[in-house]
Amino acid sequence: MKVISTKKELQSEMEQITKAGKTVGFVPTMGALHDGHLSLIHRSTAENDVTAVSIFVNPTQFNNPSDLEKYPRDLQHDLSLLEKNHCDLVFTPAVDEMYDKNETESVFEFDFGGLDKVMEGKFRPGHFNGVVQVVSKLFNLVQPDRAYFGEKDFQQLAIIRRMVELMNFNIEIVGCPIVREKDGLAMSSRNLRLDKEERQKAVEISKTLFESKKLVSNFSPEQVQNWVIARLNSLPGLKVEYFEIVHQKTLQPMHSWSEPAIGCVAVFCGDVRLIDNIKYNDAQ
Ligand code: PAF
Repeated sequence: MKVISTKKELQSEMEQITKAGKTVGFVPTMGALHDGHLSLIHRSTAENDVTAVSIFVNPTQFNNPSDLEKYPRDLQHDLSLLEKNHCDLVFTPAVDEMYDKNETESVFEFDFGGLDKVMEGKFRPGHFNGVVQVVSKLFNLVQPDRAYFGEKDFQQLAIIRRMVELMNFNIEIVGCPIVREKDGLAMSSRNLRLDKEERQKAVEISKTLFESKKLVSNFSPEQVQNWVIARLNSLPGLKVEYFEIVHQKTLQPMHSWSEPAIGCVAVFCGDVRLIDNIKYNDAQ
């Protein structure tokens, strides 16, 4: 497994791979890897000749400086996991390798056609501009055939698909299902920040989402929405930032169950912000 930290070396490596006629699968990450990331890597190794992974905690997508500071980092552990899981190449750039100084300070703006006006976009201003900024840079450097993203960040996946369409990237975007702990908690690097008590409370998030599926035949999307918010907020230690039931493609609020819907939630468990989602009228 090659570990590369400069753009120049990465580009020359990718050039050789492409010249050899090999297909490339790419998994962008911010490290603190868990089984959710590994599921993306396994899918990529099954579908491509070469799998490249990036590990870069991207400062421009954090609207909260303390969230950026506390984001878990363990490069040595990540590298050994990647090696064991047959990753071929890892890109681990420093911040000043990815950005000129003025780039991290100025606002990068992208038109998401309304996809960014709801949910995460509403509560984390600038977040998706930062995601698109770094993912478009990484796509330009790696030029993969396919790129793999988890459905836990459902809105991010929709936005990446839109970016690929608008910027004419010739890359297939592959969305992969959420990977859950045995008790149902969606896997996330942020789970590492939960203490024992918070970890026990956090399981109520997925439990509530699964329960809410049973309400669909008798209640409207608004009623299910209110039920989920009230139930989670009634549990000490949990505080809902948003829960919205939206159309799976447009991410706009649903008023009936006529189209495929998804319920997306952000919940504070202590000071750790967790997200999860559930699809309502198709198989999850
Ligand atoms: O999902 C993530 O971990 C990040 O948003 C991504 C796609 C690696 C961009 O920094």
